[in-house]
Amino acid sequence: MKKIIITKKVIIANWKINPLTEKKAKKLFGDTVGGFKNSENIELVICPPDIYLPLFKNHSQKVKLGAQDCFWKKGGAYTGEISPDILKNYGISYVILGHSERRINLKETDIMIAQKIKIAQSAGLKTILCVGENAAQKRQRNTFSVIKKQLTESLSLLGKSKLSGLIIAYEPVWAIGPGDPCPRETALIAMANIKAMLVKLFGENGANIPILYGGSVDATNANNYLENDGFDGLLIGGASLNGKEMTKIFSSIVG
Ligand code: PGA
Repeated sequence: MKKIIITKKVIIANWKINPLTEKKAKKLFGDTVGGFKNSENIELVICPPDIYLPLFKNHSQKVKLGAQDCFWKKGGAYTGEISPDILKNYGISYVILGHSERRINLKETDIMIAQKIKIAQSAGLKTILCVGENAAQKRQRNTFSVIKKQLTESLSLLGKSKLSGLIIAYEPVWAIGPGDPCPRETALIAMANIKAMLVKLFGENGANIPILYGGSVDATNANNYLENDGFDGLLIGGASLNGKEMTKIFSSIVG
């Protein structure tokens, strides 16, 4: 008989640089966690701005905390950066790396991201690598070559034995922001391609790396990406700033 493996869907709330006050951050955390009842089938990860992490550290057993970035060194003379070891030692479980907003605004390259992934993985953080094409690359039908380059280069410093805790997020850049989500079928084709590329890079183990979808996820479409052998989870930006919307998302996810 085929073994049934029940794995939790991973929901990442990426708050970016929101909210602007501690009071509002506490309220948003409270509203989000208050509406989160189904921790048996969902792993909820909240990624606030780093400065708010201590507010939530001992707050809830049900929720994991993540950072939105980290540097590629353990420590030392790197003004303004945060190291994966500091995050891990502080009790943070996850880190998002290679988000398109950092690639665009801070000119992060795949090589920089590769160094970050290597050191974050060896610190023991669960590492979410974001990949995805922008609108022009999509128009030119370059989606898969873009993703292939991002995966190949960003994962080039990781050995086959270092894959535990690695997660990929497919985030088409054109879908990030309000209102233009990637159609499920298109997203699933990208997911299948990513899986095939991971198998090429890492052999059979590559097939076990979870793949999330991100880009204009809300309560009306969240479960659509997950159901019927869909994605392993979601990376949610805008909607994660609204506790009520998150509650609806949680209850829309059936299993
Ligand atoms: P969005 O952001 O949900 O607001 O589209 C997703 C992301 O940037 O990770």
